[in-house]
Amino acid sequence: MKRFAIALAALLAVALAGSAQADEPIVIKFSHVVSPEAPKGKAALLFKELAEKYTDGRVKVEVYPNSSLYKDKEELEALQLGSVQLLAPSISKFGPLGVKEFDIFDLPFLMNDDAHARQMMASPMMADLNKKLEAKGVAPLAYWDNGAHDYTCNRPLIVPDDFRGLKMRIQGSKVLDAVARQLGAIPQIIAFGELYQALQTGVVDGEDNVATNILTQKFYEVQKHMTLSHHSRLTYALVTNKTFWNGLPDDVRAQLDRAVKETNAFFNDTAAKDNSDAVDKIRASGRTEIHVLTDAERKAWIGKLMPVHTEMQSRFGKDFIERIYKASGFTPPQS
Ligand code: LMR
Repeated sequence: MKRFAIALAALLAVALAGSAQADEPIVIKFSHVVSPEAPKGKAALLFKELAEKYTDGRVKVEVYPNSSLYKDKEELEALQLGSVQLLAPSISKFGPLGVKEFDIFDLPFLMNDDAHARQMMASPMMADLNKKLEAKGVAPLAYWDNGAHDYTCNRPLIVPDDFRGLKMRIQGSKVLDAVARQLGAIPQIIAFGELYQALQTGVVDGEDNVATNILTQKFYEVQKHMTLSHHSRLTYALVTNKTFWNGLPDDVRAQLDRAVKETNAFFNDTAAKDNSDAVDKIRASGRTEIHVLTDAERKAWIGKLMPVHTEMQSRFGKDFIERIYKASGFTPPQS
C-alpha cells in the first residue's frame, strides 16, 4: 500500500510538473548590438510587443540591446548553440559561420540606393543563400536594409588618397578588408560594442556606419569628420536557431511569423527616415563636420574601388558576381 502511495505521488508530481511546464511561456531571447533607439533596436521592441500579443502571452520575448548579452562573434555562436533564439546581425558578419557568400554584398557601390537594396533582398537568389545559413543551423526569417554606410574619421575623407595609412575599423568581411586595403588604409576587425572606445582611444582612426549608429553610439563625439559616401549598405538578417523555430507549436510559429511580417513593414517604413534625421542631428551637434561627396569626388571613389570587384572574382567566381549584379540591378561603370 505504501509503495502504491509513493508511486502515485511520483506520478502526480510528474503530471503537475508537466502542467506547470505547459503553462510556462516559451522564452525567446533576442540579442543585438545596437541602441534601443536605432532602427534595429526599435524593431526588436516592436517584435516583442507583437509576438507577446499575438500568442496571448504563450511567448515571452526578452530583448538584450547594446551587446549586453553577446558581442558580434559570440552572438552567432550562441545562436547555433541555442543559448539565444533571435538575432539580427549585419550580413557582413556571417564569414566566421563558414558562409562566405554574404560578403559579396559589401562590394563597393553595388547597391546604390534603397530601391536596389530591396530589389536584391527580394530576389530569388536569396533563397539559395538562405540554404547556406540553414546548413549551419541558422534560419533567416527576414532581411532588413538599414541604408547606406558613411565614413567617419578624425581627418576629412574627401579623395581616396585621404585614407592612406589610416587604421580603419571593419566589420569582418573579406570584401571590407579588400576595400580598406585598396584605399591604402589598415583594416582592423573590432566588435561593434567595442568601437566607441577604440575610436576614443585612437586604436582606430575611423570607421563606416549608418547615421543612426553614428548618432546613438555617440561616435560623432569622438570623430571630427563624416563623409556622406554611401559606398555600401548595412543589411541585417533576422535569424533564429533552426531547430528551435521548427520545434515550436505550429499555431505559435504562425503568430510569430505574423509578428515578423509586421516588424518588417515597420523597419522598411522607418529606417530611411531615422537615418536621414540622424544626419541632421549629428550636423546640429556641431561636433562633426559633414562632407557630401560631389559627383566628381564620388566618381573618383568609384574608380578607385572598382578593382575590388575584379579582385573578388577569384573569391566568389565571376559568374556568381554577375548574377548578383543582375539581381541587384548594378551596372559596372565604363572605365
Ligand atoms: C556594425 O558592426 O558596424 C553594425 O553592423 C552594427 C549593427 O548591427 O548595426
